[in-house]
This record gives sequence, C-alpha cells and structure tokens, in this order.
Amino acid sequence: MDDRRFRWGILGTGRIAASFATDLARLPDAELVAVGSRSPEGAERFGQQFGAAHRHASYEALVADDDVDVVYVATPHPGHHPAALLAIEAGKAVLVEKPFTVNAEQARELVAAARARSTFLMEAMWARFMPHYAHVRALLAEGALGDVRTVIVDHGQWFERDASSRLFDRTLGGGALLDLGIYAVSFASMVLGTPTRVLALSDPAFTGVDATTSALLQHDGGRHAVVTTTLEATGSNRAAIIGTEARLELHSRFYRSPTLTLTSRDDVVEVFEAPAETRGLRHQAAEVMRCLREGRTESEVMPLDETVSIMATMDEIRRQIGLAYPGE
Ligand SMILES: NC(=O)c1ccc[n+]([C@@H]2O[C@H](COP(=O)([O-])OP(=O)(O)OC[C@H]3O[C@@H](n4cnc5c(N)ncnc54)[C@H](OP(=O)(O)O)[C@@H]3O)[C@@H](O)[C@H]2O)c1
Repeated sequence: MDDRRFRWGILGTGRIAASFATDLARLPDAELVAVGSRSPEGAERFGQQFGAAHRHASYEALVADDDVDVVYVATPHPGHHPAALLAIEAGKAVLVEKPFTVNAEQARELVAAARARSTFLMEAMWARFMPHYAHVRALLAEGALGDVRTVIVDHGQWFERDASSRLFDRTLGGGALLDLGIYAVSFASMVLGTPTRVLALSDPAFTGVDATTSALLQHDGGRHAVVTTTLEATGSNRAAIIGTEARLELHSRFYRSPTLTLTSRDDVVEVFEAPAETRGLRHQAAEVMRCLREGRTESEVMPLDETVSIMATMDEIRRQIGLAYPGE
C-alpha cells in the first residue's frame, strides 16, 4: 500500500485559505508544511494559526520550498494564473481555486504549461468531489433519469454593497458570474458537457461588475441548461436535472446539501442522503493525493479540458453581457 504523506503549501492567506487549512487537517495523509503571503506578517499569522512551519514572505519563496509537494492557490481570481504558473514552473503539483482563471486563454496557458512539465494541475471546484455529486454522477451513469432534457441551477447570495470587497471590485475579477455563477455553469457542464449555443443576460452592480446574470445553454440532443446567479439576493440555491424517466433535485445549497430527491415520471419519490458535511473542502485535496499516488497528472473527475471548456462558456457569457476585466 502507498501510504505516502503529501506536504502542502498554501499560497495566499485569505478566507478560503483558512477554511481549506482547517479541512486539510482532517486528512491523515496531508501535512500543511508551508504558507506563502505577499507580506511577512501575513505568512507569520497564518503559519501560527494553522501550524505551517515554513512561513514565506513571497509566493516565489513558497514555490521554491523543496519541502512542498503540492501548492494550493487561494488568491483573488486574477492572481490564479500568475501564481499557478510560478508553481507549475517550480515543478509542484498545483490545486487552483475556482474560477480556475479569469478567462479561457489563461486557463489554456496553465494547462499547456502543466502538460509540458508533466506536473499535476486541477481546478479546486470542491463541490465536484463531494459525496452527493458522486452520487449524481452514478445515477446519471446508470440511466436512472433516462435522457436528460433540462438542467436548472440557481446560485444567489446576498452581499452587502461594499466597494472595497473583491466581489464588487473589477480589478479583482469581481461580479456574480465568476464567483457564484461558476458553480452553476460547472454543474451544468458536469451533466451536459460543453454547450453548442449560449444566450446570456445581465444587470450590473453599483461598481459595474455583474450583479445578476442568467444564461440559457443549448446542447446537442435537445438538451438545455438554465443557469442564473446573483450577488444581491439569497437564491433557492437548488439544482434540478430533468430527464425523460425521472428528475433529480439537489436541495439548498445544491453544492453542499447531502440530500437528493429522485422523482419518477409517475411521481414515485426516492430520497438519497449522502454523509452530512460541514465544509467539504478536503475531498478535493484527497482527490489530488489519490491522483499523485496513482501517478496521474490530472483528475478524471475535474478534467483540465473541461475546466477550459467551462472558462470558455464563461467567456462567451461575458462577451454577450459586455463584461471585461483589466487586460482583456
Ligand atoms: N471554494 C470556495 O468555497 C471558495 C470560497 C470563497 C472563495 N473562493 C475562491 O478563492 C479565491 C480567494 O477568495 P477569498 O474569499 O479567500 O479572498 P480573500 O479573503 O480576499 O483572500 C485572498 C488572499 O489572496 C492574497 N492576495 C493576493 N493578491 C491580492 C490582492 N490583489 N488583493 C487581495 N488579496 C490578495 C492575500 O493573501 P496574502 O496577502 O497573504 O498574500 C489575500 O488574503 C477566489 O478566487 C475565490 O473565488 C473559493
């Protein structure tokens, strides 16, 4: 048995980095050894709080740390591409927060760099690795829904208007689509693959980034997805996959609720309960380590080509709603 332990380095010390460090501590085969921050104070504070012994005052120093096997990139979205590239070029395995990058071009560059170096790379779309999502995939694979016709997903959260928050800041990739809509687009992609046609609408927040965005995605075989997201209201945060034999509903919030309801065409209801979760960020880390143990450079649960395709769908939605970020 391969009982290797993997040594993690966390790049960026914000909210999600703290949640990830907390959940990582629950995995016996993972060890948090290092943290990298833009500032010595940030590295020191985070290192002390989560027991990371190596506290680097730059991202460059973190990726150069020989004691680090895997780097987890947890900066705001525009920082993902440069930081992940640094880590890839240093030969590290890399897990990159969602959205993987700001756009598909950046995503393609990271994928090409990782493939050129045969280094592991994965998008940290943590929900993909939750037990209830695995159950969704199993039900689809066994044909429990018949032919899927429609996927409907809504992801809305209320955020206070705050010009200093990265969520509203265009220079930090703010807006509903990249932060929240990504969960809906990724879910639709998991079920239906790449759309052949996209129709999008949006209304802006007070800073000009998107506040409420909706899209219709058309797929081959007469299949549709409806995705809608807002950062101005708490949504139902449910998802439904509607097939010719049955529909499968993921309860609120669809990306972390353990409950799934399968309703047959004749209204026979079956309820599935996955193990209850608190945050569930460790499952993606477990997947990284499983892949590394098996000598894989990417995960078949969140393949890199699919990550690029998801970013291309997001690009098309943004093109239609007229939302560009600095440098685009
Ligand atoms: N998986 C999830 O559920 C989830 C949830 C929330 C966010 N996220 C994703 O994780 C990423 C980070 O989100 P967050 O909410 O953790 O953000 P955050 O609290 O603002 O933290 C981001 C961290 O990145 C570093 N950073 C580098 N450049 C920065 C810049 N120009 N401005 C501000 N911080 C900068 C900072 O750490 P140092 O100063 O120490 O370098 C900062 O603490 C986003 O891409 C987001 O989409 C994922």
